[in-house]
Amino acid sequence: MDHGTTLTQFIIEEQRRIPGATGDFTSLLNDVVTACKKIACAVNRGGLIGILGSAGSENVQGETQKKLDIISNDVMVNSLEWTGHLAGMASEEMDDPLPIPAMYPKGKYLILFDPLDGSSNIDVNVSVGTIFSILCAPEDCENPTLEDFLQPGTRQICAGYAVYGPATMLVLTSGHGVNGFTLDRSIGEFILSHPDMIIPADTREFAINMSNQRHWEAPVKRYVDECIQGQEGPRGEDFNMRWVASMVAEVHRILTRGGIFMYPIDEKLKARDQAGKLRLMYEANPMGFIVEQAGGACSTGRERIMELEPSGLHQRVPVILGSRNEVERVVAYHRESDGGKQQVA
Ligand code: AHG
Ligand code: MN
Ligand code: MN
Repeated sequence: MDHGTTLTQFIIEEQRRIPGATGDFTSLLNDVVTACKKIACAVNRGGLIGILGSAGSENVQGETQKKLDIISNDVMVNSLEWTGHLAGMASEEMDDPLPIPAMYPKGKYLILFDPLDGSSNIDVNVSVGTIFSILCAPEDCENPTLEDFLQPGTRQICAGYAVYGPATMLVLTSGHGVNGFTLDRSIGEFILSHPDMIIPADTREFAINMSNQRHWEAPVKRYVDECIQGQEGPRGEDFNMRWVASMVAEVHRILTRGGIFMYPIDEKLKARDQAGKLRLMYEANPMGFIVEQAGGACSTGRERIMELEPSGLHQRVPVILGSRNEVERVVAYHRESDGGKQQVA
């Protein structure tokens, strides 16, 4: 029986197209995929083996950690540190970059990850995920410094996420489009189920946490207000709204049927000295790479996310991503509000 193209086969075939490829990157990706399968298993059985709920600790960003945040982080670290493909790794759940232990060989890649995204959804059995971003370490770098990790998103060589939903899926880009794979549990393999994922340029669906409405800046207020006015408003069409509170699930929906997702800067975040809610290095950059590769756009509202020069491992940024024409509209509203001349019809 033919089960279709496995993820392993897909990445080996991609590797063969790159002259001089050593297979190192293919192996690293396989190790990441194995880690995601282990996390999928933990998330799946969480309620049966007593690993739901809070761990009673906080991460470097002052957020309460769930037991599964810590377990997922441990799975990523344990699955990747020994393999010889990495020079270092960094995670939402670790204050500083983690060096590769001295007893293991070092490789040429750096990985940054959000081991469990959307963790407020764990206990309520709603989709969560893992996000990762792969960079090259500087040449001959034995022990990468923090600065070595702070590369703009345009330098990513691969980004991906796993979404643990009704099906477990893995979505990947290495700069040649976006492909989606579904875990076939009967054989334990991810199978290519969504080749060449493309985000439609237009959409009538937006995603934003409306409870922050009173804190938003004028351009975001204007955009959402126009959507809500529907047929009677300036857009002349009704819009639909979704908010899952798991970025992976929102991005996955947008890759599947289009849409716009916004976690903008607002007065409440500013009052807490935060430049946004989502983190640049392991949320916004990898998702930006994936979304752009699928024909969408990803911006802070004022700058292309992937071109930002990072200033810190846990740096936060406003995120507006998805269907290109809608993201461009929101960016134009920012430009207009900031004093630019251009009028948007
Ligand atoms: P994490 O669980 O890794 O901290 O990320 C949660 C993020 C993101 O996935 C989601 O879009 C957003 O936080 C939800 O924020 P609100 O709870 O403010 O809606
Ligand atoms: Mn997250
Ligand atoms: Mn997380």
